[in-house]
Amino acid sequence: MSIQFSDDGLIVHISNKFISYVMEAVDGKYLVLRYFGKAVRRYHGAGEPFYYKRGYTTEHPCSIPNVSFDDFPFEYPARGYGDYRIPAFAVTQDSGIEFVKLMFQGFRVLEEKPELTGLPAAFAKKGETETLEVTCEDGIAGIRVRLYYTIFEDRGVIARSQKVENIGNQALKLQNVQSFSLELPAKEYDVLSLYGTHAGEGNVSRSLLSHGVWRIESVRGSSSPQQQPFFALMDPHSTEYSGEVYGFQLIYSGNFLAQAEKDQFGNVRAQIGIHPDTFCWELNPGEAFQAPEAILNYSSEGLNGMSQNFHWLYQYHLMPSGFTHRERPVLLNSWEAMYYDVSLGKLEEQAEQAKELGAELFVLDDGWFRADNSSRTSMGDWECNQQKLPGGIAAAAELIHSKGMQFGLWFEPEAVCRDSNLYREHPDWALQIPGYEITEGRHEYILDLSQKKVREYVISVLDAYLEGGQIDYVKWDMNRPFTEVNSLALPKERKGEISHRYILGLYEILDTITKRYPKMLLEGCSSGGARFDPGMLHYAAQNWSSDNTDAFDRTRIQAGFSLMYPPIAMGAHVSITPNHQTGRTVSLNTRYQVARLFNMGYELDLSKCSSEEKSEIARQIEEYKKERGWLQRASFYRNEAPNENYAIWSSVREDQEECLAMIFQKLYRPLCSRGRFRLAGLNPEYDYVECGSKKSYGGDELMETGISIPLAKEDFYVFMFHFIREK
Ligand code: DGJ
Repeated sequence: MSIQFSDDGLIVHISNKFISYVMEAVDGKYLVLRYFGKAVRRYHGAGEPFYYKRGYTTEHPCSIPNVSFDDFPFEYPARGYGDYRIPAFAVTQDSGIEFVKLMFQGFRVLEEKPELTGLPAAFAKKGETETLEVTCEDGIAGIRVRLYYTIFEDRGVIARSQKVENIGNQALKLQNVQSFSLELPAKEYDVLSLYGTHAGEGNVSRSLLSHGVWRIESVRGSSSPQQQPFFALMDPHSTEYSGEVYGFQLIYSGNFLAQAEKDQFGNVRAQIGIHPDTFCWELNPGEAFQAPEAILNYSSEGLNGMSQNFHWLYQYHLMPSGFTHRERPVLLNSWEAMYYDVSLGKLEEQAEQAKELGAELFVLDDGWFRADNSSRTSMGDWECNQQKLPGGIAAAAELIHSKGMQFGLWFEPEAVCRDSNLYREHPDWALQIPGYEITEGRHEYILDLSQKKVREYVISVLDAYLEGGQIDYVKWDMNRPFTEVNSLALPKERKGEISHRYILGLYEILDTITKRYPKMLLEGCSSGGARFDPGMLHYAAQNWSSDNTDAFDRTRIQAGFSLMYPPIAMGAHVSITPNHQTGRTVSLNTRYQVARLFNMGYELDLSKCSSEEKSEIARQIEEYKKERGWLQRASFYRNEAPNENYAIWSSVREDQEECLAMIFQKLYRPLCSRGRFRLAGLNPEYDYVECGSKKSYGGDELMETGISIPLAKEDFYVFMFHFIREK
């Protein structure tokens, strides 16, 4: 990797083996993007901005003849002086005038990646990255913006962020600080994003980007199941295996906006950042504001290439480093077995059987502190209901530990019920607007994490449970979108800051707890995958991906999230059949195989399983434990299927010695079932034996000729292939 400058110091080329990112300070004043894409050895100036004289536009003092700011490839654009496209930056000055004009000041190379104060961000050791800092200023307004570009040695990714400083004498209001803005040359692009709903997360949307502005967003307070803070712009011919893909993701868990504008000439501008509609930040003289980090990802190897870049970055440079290489325990979660109706007797019965079957962690989900068996009361009090669990959590943990299993506990630390002592004592701790009724969501209000004393309370609750060292795992849930977004503690000039301050407060709590209890495994959850984002992944090494545990639906949900997240980050549970969410009946084998390449666990009432089912579960767990070590670090592929009746995935061991491939046949359709599937990521020089049939194949043969897909007279059927290198 390197950061190189032209002789006059005005062009900078950031590159590694995979990508190049080239910027120019035109006339030493205007920062523009020259190129982002596949690596070039050396940049000689190709692709310079070029203009014809034309009407209905503006003129500028610039050495480029006929320049028009209307389609100038500004690196960090603002409105008001000739660029009418989507702005990345907007500031209101003390006069009330919204205007800012940034001028380039200089480049600086940093050997170490700077930390982002108060925010989760990718991290790296010295020597693994290089960072370019670009300084731009508006001397009249008194604004300095530092733009950061961190390139990693090993993949085609760049981490981007901005720091804004008030270097003048007037109070400023930041209205919009996008985490990056990127100019792509005029060409056809498809735009791809993930949309969803509760229990229906991770659906792929792909369409041709047309003229105008395409956008997705969340204004729900969190990143939401409705849209992921992610999108990709790609060659319309690109596939899972081939073609150019630019992927973008925001490392943030709150309201976001992601946009792409195709301008009058077909040039494209892409951006992602905090949603400006729910953001306004007062920046007084001497103060600084740090925008969240975004990831720019380039792959010339289709969507799988993009996914593997994200997987690598998130696994080795974003999630808690203590869990990168740690094998994740096979857990049994109590939710679908007990819901709110938990008891010591049930715990003992389930844990005893779970242990016998090989599970390693028992997770006590919701219900343990509730006054009754519903979500109506008690949230926020966090006192164990002794009638349900005599001796409290200490006794429950001791019981589970005595069975030789780890103990995990569910919390929803950000919420409070109206019917709770906490709310009765501190009604001012909930988000609310004076005079208006607070809207409930799952009978909950939201605690105002922008208040220090509220954060201290949440930390003290968690400390009280975690200090004793009896809790090995915490599931951190959050079950409603935000309403009445106001803090009683913030003055009127700072009301626009609450959404972002909430997220900063959440990160502060997560940072404190994970640093204080580094061995405790944290699983993020929000009504399933409603806040599955890279911000949460920085603290929670795994995330519950959906409340929908139906294996058929899971083929779509897990594949969707696998666009960004490594399989180990995704909780995938084998549950009971007929499935509680969909009523669908799917075989135990299929339920297991769909979870097997991910972070597999169980969530079902073991006392309702037959002895055959239990011995099958024991076999599954034994098999999974043997494989999870390499599966956790494997390259995951979404393989191309011959038609929409199949979902095909494979995981290839890091050293290419082994591969597990899953073919999910959705329905039995005799007339459309003679396709082939081609593997990916194997070593073409190696020969592999398929463990089931004992047949041998060349790696090249498996990837080019492909394997014929068998036919089973069963809906929702899985074929599993296990290839091991022949020696
Ligand atoms: C929503 C989660 O997604 C479920 O797994 C479960 O923990 C419930 N909340 C408990 O209330």
